[in-house]
Amino acid sequence: MSSTKEPLLNTYDLRALSDEHSAHNYHPLPIVISEAEGAWVTDVEGNRYLDMLAAYSAVNFGHRHPRLIEAAERQLGRVTLVSRAFDHDQFGPFVAELAELAGKDMVLPMNSGAEAVETALKTARKWGYEVKGVPAEQANIVTFEGNFHGRTTTIVSFSTDPDARNSYGPFTPGFRTVPYGDVAALRDAVDENTVGVLIEPIQGEAGVNVPPSGFLTAVREICGDSLMIADEIQSGLGRTGTTFAVEHENVVPDIYILGKALGGGILPISAVVADKDILGVFKPGQHGSTFGGNPLACAIAREVIAMLKTGEFQERSRTLGAHLHERLGRLPSHQVREVRGRGLWAGVELNGKARPVSEKLMERGVLAKETHETTLRLAPPLVVTQEDLDWALDHLEAVLTEL
Ligand SMILES: Cc1ncc(COP(=O)(O)O)c(C=O)c1O
Repeated sequence: MSSTKEPLLNTYDLRALSDEHSAHNYHPLPIVISEAEGAWVTDVEGNRYLDMLAAYSAVNFGHRHPRLIEAAERQLGRVTLVSRAFDHDQFGPFVAELAELAGKDMVLPMNSGAEAVETALKTARKWGYEVKGVPAEQANIVTFEGNFHGRTTTIVSFSTDPDARNSYGPFTPGFRTVPYGDVAALRDAVDENTVGVLIEPIQGEAGVNVPPSGFLTAVREICGDSLMIADEIQSGLGRTGTTFAVEHENVVPDIYILGKALGGGILPISAVVADKDILGVFKPGQHGSTFGGNPLACAIAREVIAMLKTGEFQERSRTLGAHLHERLGRLPSHQVREVRGRGLWAGVELNGKARPVSEKLMERGVLAKETHETTLRLAPPLVVTQEDLDWALDHLEAVLTEL
């Protein structure tokens, strides 16, 4: 870390402002970032850090990727928002290109990930009543223990994390939750009124939990005439070495939910992607969003899709991910209990608390973050170089040895 400039307000002052005036719904590391490029960020004192979190996969292509900045700047000079009351020239191409990337017919764009999950839940219920013929108000959706799909009241209704759920009731009914990876429990939970099974192909927030081999295939089969809904908001768009994480088992869900990296780390855009027989249930006035599918977001997302079509980022995640996991696998078992993950994505299960490890890494110029008590999550931008990755892993080894 080297100091390169004089800040107007220093880290201490800026953190005091946040501490006083923002709700304390996060526990950030004590750093205040003012600039970023590629895999690196710079704080207000001019210290540089390697970003090993990538905004929970929203920055898969690195900070301010030149192609994405150029697409955004081009669009900023044209039109940024019209609402869905009118069409705009980025909308048609965006939905066509995203549908093609996912091998589906249609796209319903929203903004945040949680909104897209809500949209998928509404889609499954509406489809269940109007197409499958489930009796009114009887639809159920199956979810998994340890899930994380966002923060709305309906979504936390089926969360099993007390922090995410407690004190937010009364909750939305109509959900059944079974252990992640438990085929028999899933089979028992699915019945004639099940309209969908909502699954993260790898559970991110829960600690980068990879399901047992064959589980996604079993989910696909058990879904039968209900919809398999893959929440690829964190696992998708190159993170695991493929465009979608379900590809690792050659499984094709009925609905993809996308977000985070779709906005290129510039702004939020999310989407539900499915075939016409599913998304065709929506008629004018039955769902919507003022900002969903806005011109600026669509222009950036179109560039994201074009970048993914080259396969370059998936390939980087595969090769660098293999290297990452090979090195993490060599960490001594008295320090690390387990390493999970795929591609450039790892949950390092420590024998002790993970927070002191992320704090010590920060002091050495490496930004990673704990999830829950004992898991350190690593998810660098896919543009990270092997040299930078090795440098960060050297620091991780050193920090674990110091503890
Ligand atoms: C799998 C998954 N689904 C949904 C969400 C919610 O996305 P957002 O924070 O954009 O609402 C997240 C966020 O971490 C996620 O990881």
